[in-house]
Amino acid sequence: MRDSNHVTIHNLTKIYKKQNSEVLALNGISLNVSRNEFLCIVGASGCGKSTLLRIIGGLDREYSGTVSIGKTKITGPGLDRGIVFQEHRLLPWLTVWENMEFALQKGSKEEKNKLIIDHLKLVGLERFKNAYPGQLSGGMSQRVAIARALVNRPEILLLDEPFGALDALTRLKLQQEVLDIWEQEKTTMIMVTHDIEEAVYMGDRVIVMSERPGTIKKEFTIDLPRPRNRSDTVFQQIRKEIYQEFRQVEV
Ligand SMILES: Nc1ncnc2c1ncn2[C@@H]1O[C@H](COP(=O)(O)OP(=O)(O)OP(=O)(O)O)[C@@H](O)[C@H]1O
Ligand SMILES: [Mg+2]
Repeated sequence: MRDSNHVTIHNLTKIYKKQNSEVLALNGISLNVSRNEFLCIVGASGCGKSTLLRIIGGLDREYSGTVSIGKTKITGPGLDRGIVFQEHRLLPWLTVWENMEFALQKGSKEEKNKLIIDHLKLVGLERFKNAYPGQLSGGMSQRVAIARALVNRPEILLLDEPFGALDALTRLKLQQEVLDIWEQEKTTMIMVTHDIEEAVYMGDRVIVMSERPGTIKKEFTIDLPRPRNRSDTVFQQIRKEIYQEFRQVEV
């Protein structure tokens, strides 16, 4: 059993204010994520998944309620959290190495070099350190984005549909790679996905959000042994249950 709460969210409400209108994006979300847990979040488009991730990442500070890492309320972005988006967001004018270096916040030259090499190795791309993002495939760019998010050794990795733009085979490969990284680095993972099968394959727990305003509709604990077998009957049964929950949201 996992013990301590790593991320604690209490009664989180987020309203986007525009000139003449307001959008209630999240409504009273309360959620605990344990240390080293792999949490997946699914929900209809526009239900507030990215908003939730951005708030945990400290990129959006205008909300009510509390979001804490350990016992500390978050006040902004921090090295304890890395974030990966659907598109890789690498700087096109910098090489892979330079993109990693740009993200690195502290350490001597030697320490930095070691961190960059270690993390490029982690995603199998040390040979491409001098390539520019434009010379990489979508899967390779996303691997660099994952390495970059991990280079400051965050305790928490936030992933917002990280494989959404990839072809099916690359997607399966990267799912496995992220699981291997999770086991090796012992990070707490919070991943948003549209793909229910991906959520069941990867998550210890899957949260289904309601349509906007986003609330937590239901949660499923996935205690299947790893590595999981996608064609296993129980796996398929859980996938179906989540799909039905999801469909009720969609209609
Ligand atoms: N900067 C913003 N200003 C105003 N409204 C916004 C802003 N960002 C998001 N919203 C609105 O808040 C709601 C939640 O958006 P969010 O991007 O978090 O949804 P999502 O669940 O990530 O959707 P998707 O699955 O399509 O990525 C949407 O209705 C969206 O239009
Ligand atoms: Mg989103």
